[in-house]
Amino acid sequence: MAVANAGIRKQPGSVLDPLWFKDAIIYELHVKAFADSNNDGIGDFPGLMQRLDYLQDLGVTCIWLLPFFPSPLRDDGYDIADYMSVHPSYGTVEDFRAFLEAAHKRGLQVMIELVINHTSDQHPWFQAARNAAPGSPERDFYVWSDTDHLYSDARIIFTDTEKSNWSWDPVAKAYYWHRFFSHQPDLNFDNPRVLEEVLKVLRFWLDMGVDGLRLDAVPYLVERDGTNCENLDETHVVIKAMRQAIDERYANRMILAEANQVPADVRPYFGDGDECHMAFHFPLMPRIYMALGQEDSTPIIDIMAKTPDIPENCQWGLFLRNHDELTLEMVTGDERDYMYLAYSGDPRMRINVGIRRRLAPLLDNNRRRMELLNSLLFSFPGTPILYYGDEIGMGDNIYLGDRNGVRTPMQWSGDRNAGFSRCNPAKLYSPVIMDPLWGYQSINVEAQMGDPSSLLNWMRNMIALRKLFQVFGRGTLRFLSPSNRKILAYIREYKDELVLCVANLSRDWQPVQLDLSDLVGMMPVEMIGYVPFPVITEESYPLTVGPYGFIWLELQPPPVAA
Ligand code: GLC
Ligand code: CA
Repeated sequence: MAVANAGIRKQPGSVLDPLWFKDAIIYELHVKAFADSNNDGIGDFPGLMQRLDYLQDLGVTCIWLLPFFPSPLRDDGYDIADYMSVHPSYGTVEDFRAFLEAAHKRGLQVMIELVINHTSDQHPWFQAARNAAPGSPERDFYVWSDTDHLYSDARIIFTDTEKSNWSWDPVAKAYYWHRFFSHQPDLNFDNPRVLEEVLKVLRFWLDMGVDGLRLDAVPYLVERDGTNCENLDETHVVIKAMRQAIDERYANRMILAEANQVPADVRPYFGDGDECHMAFHFPLMPRIYMALGQEDSTPIIDIMAKTPDIPENCQWGLFLRNHDELTLEMVTGDERDYMYLAYSGDPRMRINVGIRRRLAPLLDNNRRRMELLNSLLFSFPGTPILYYGDEIGMGDNIYLGDRNGVRTPMQWSGDRNAGFSRCNPAKLYSPVIMDPLWGYQSINVEAQMGDPSSLLNWMRNMIALRKLFQVFGRGTLRFLSPSNRKILAYIREYKDELVLCVANLSRDWQPVQLDLSDLVGMMPVEMIGYVPFPVITEESYPLTVGPYGFIWLELQPPPVAA
């Protein structure tokens, strides 16, 4: 019998739930930075394949690969010169395919980048455009103007390097539009042929079996004069068309919007469940650091209150750090001043509107703070996204340019080049971190594997614990309002799973009285040690939490009387 969706392509051997991304734990990495198999100083797909054991053992369920396409690499690969191939330094399309197959065999999903707001100026489309006559179909792939005055209400994003969103092209004898670096001309989505080409790219990778696509810089697809050229209706039309093209042909795929916007402007990227499956929760991230720095739960509770509900089939992507600067674009001026003061003592730590440091250095290498922030990441509503190396508390190198300080080689062991590559150290794509505190001799996977109390083992345990419950990825969130504001207390609920999370944002021990009167009779059981706590009564529930401590309590129904 013919089935309506007979043409729908699932990943080979797939038994995936279409909402798999809600229960996922995503691990973000750049193939160049992970493992070098042929000792040319640059990580590659065969190297990554050899490290799949590690990722599986860590317990993450989805690998997000930063751009690995042919590129002049002036923006770490976000300047794409060919969408349907692999940068020769990282391997071949066949190598990618082998990696994808190997990941799927282990039940790991793979998300890649779809960078469609712009290309590299080396992309053949741009080379054809600048050489073609004005008004020709080739020229029309990009956004041109005779003046640099159009769209003057659009802000500049890379404030440290760019003075204008227009650059003069001497070949075309016209200005071209770019929201990012001047070597990244924006594609023109008013031209339907551009979307057609983008859909070809999308199908190329989805046909291969890729599970997810991160839509890079997606608010800026379309520009209109007199607007800030962000989040325009026309942009949403384009994304919806992409989603439709996916749903028509593929099952179990996911698109994740990189829309660094306030919550009200991010909400439309979910549409009515017919646009993006996921979007990063950008505004939450700096508020977590603020709450910690100020020892006050208010910034978190405030931003969660401003977070709109999203459709059932959608999910927030949560993160503490990523490959970019810790962006402060979506906070107020006062909040930004506070963040710079508290988290970037040295001006070298700043770039554009943000702070270019890794998680562990931001937290002064304080193990309790790292555990606390990860406990929030793992227990807030959404899917946690880990940045490679943060699971071992890797450091950064603020003396490298751009955002390269947080993109150094993965530290596997105390061997030469941190076990990342056996090449001459001078040949590495980036120096490894070498100082006595953060260097690979002291912080590396091998050492932490052998240490039962390492951060790596703690992360692995927390990931395993989280995966036992669906409530963290799927449940509702309700904050309690204890008078001690240094304590953040919240209830997560999904079907018959009920969890109380209590976090101490301060450096000191804290007492707290929780009003749990609507949960009388429930028995809290601490989830890491499976320790039963006193049964909840009408009285307020007293807890004492150590410095930067956190407690997850599963609330179990009262035992049925015999
Ligand atoms: C996104 C990427 C960033 C890149 C920019 C321009 O924001 O995360 O790394 O530089 O897009 O492509
Ligand atoms: Ca290599």
